[in-house]
Amino acid sequence: MISMNKEIILNELINISILISSKSTLNDLLDTVLKKARDITNSDAGSLYLKEGNRLIFLITQNDTLKDINKNFKSFPIYIDKHSIAGYAAFTGDIIRIDDVYNIPKEYPFSFNIEFDQNNNYKSTSMLTIPMKDNEKEVIGVLQLINAKDSEEKIVTYSNEIEKIIESFASIAAVAIKNVQLKDSIKRAHLETIYRLSVAAEYKDTDTGTHIKRMSRYSEVIARNMGFDSKYCELLLYASPLHDIGKLGIPDAILTKPAKLDPDEWDMMKKHTTMGYEILKDSSEHLIKFAASIALSHHERYDGNGYPNRLKGENIPVEGRIVALADVFDALATKRPYKEPWPLEKILDLIQVERDKQFDSNVIEAFFKGLDEILDIQSRLSD
Ligand code: C2E
Ligand code: SIN
Ligand code: SIN
Ligand code: FE
Repeated sequence: MISMNKEIILNELINISILISSKSTLNDLLDTVLKKARDITNSDAGSLYLKEGNRLIFLITQNDTLKDINKNFKSFPIYIDKHSIAGYAAFTGDIIRIDDVYNIPKEYPFSFNIEFDQNNNYKSTSMLTIPMKDNEKEVIGVLQLINAKDSEEKIVTYSNEIEKIIESFASIAAVAIKNVQLKDSIKRAHLETIYRLSVAAEYKDTDTGTHIKRMSRYSEVIARNMGFDSKYCELLLYASPLHDIGKLGIPDAILTKPAKLDPDEWDMMKKHTTMGYEILKDSSEHLIKFAASIALSHHERYDGNGYPNRLKGENIPVEGRIVALADVFDALATKRPYKEPWPLEKILDLIQVERDKQFDSNVIEAFFKGLDEILDIQSRLSD
């Protein structure tokens, strides 16, 4: 792009903004931003850092000469101060153009860190370091481009013109990155709220809040071993913690009764399924509607003898069939106000005995396929 005219450059920048605003995951976006920045400047290599507090976190590097660079590249966070090149760019908000990093004048506050070159047998020469500023002129990260090449692949210096173009590009990239970060943060806040609400409900009958953490992960493992795609598995991971949210409507005296429930109490207890469904069912969010289905169906039995609707076989939503097994496995393995934990052997026996009775055999098969992973989760998240 080095010798292109203004109109072509403008066109190219527009195309790039369309491309980067279509990226929905941060990793994908950062990869594209760095790749395009290198394309525009014809750079052999480059790195991208994002600001986190008072530091820059190194995220990716690309290098045409060292193809498999990401595999063995380790990096430390860089402080946003005047000592490093990237830190200086973030600190001052200025673009730093260096013709030869091995000849930085002594009076400059920053110096080139030769560690990367030494470890990788690489020779950095020209370098363009650009702070990425969002629409409020806040620095959100730093782009560092290394070794501009001419049309004969000879290392050259970065031009004034290129510096101006990459500055525009960096602000487009900054806004796109900030948008994805914001979207991710909102999504995380939503998921965390759901999760914390589930934990609050669980505190009513256990005092740890770890049951839902384990059973949601077991559910995810089972779904994955049944062949569901990662989107579905993630949905199940985040929705399944809400399966017992209806217990919020069950009196504590029933939930914590250290003995068997009498028939009236049991009738009440069974309502936690329909109450959970009522709490969740009207949401316009897919995740919450999915959770409503789980709340309603997780105590149905494959043979049709479950509750609340005595659904049978494939009429039970598959998410309910999966959570049913994950829930019981964890309930049996842990202490409840009304029962002691069971040994693993006894639990696995029960699961086999309940094939086609309480549980779907496909779900059981996936459970046993994923058993190592399930036991690993169990030991990592034990009370
Ligand atoms: P939970 O404690 O989370 O148990 C979930 C499911 O694990 C139970 O659903 C049941 O399918 C299975 N499970 C738990 N303990 C045992 C057990 O000792 N043997 C067998 N075979 N399965 C077990 P279920 O039965 O529909 O119960 C739903 C919820 O009702 C339970 O959730 C618990 O909160 C409450 N609950 C059930 N039975 C009793 C009881 O005897 N006393 C008290 N206080 N609560 C009970
Ligand atoms: C820095 O900007 O000084 C750190 C990265 C590098 O030296 O290549
Ligand atoms: C979350 O924290 O968003 C829920 C996932 C989990 O920790 O089980
Ligand atoms: Fe339940």
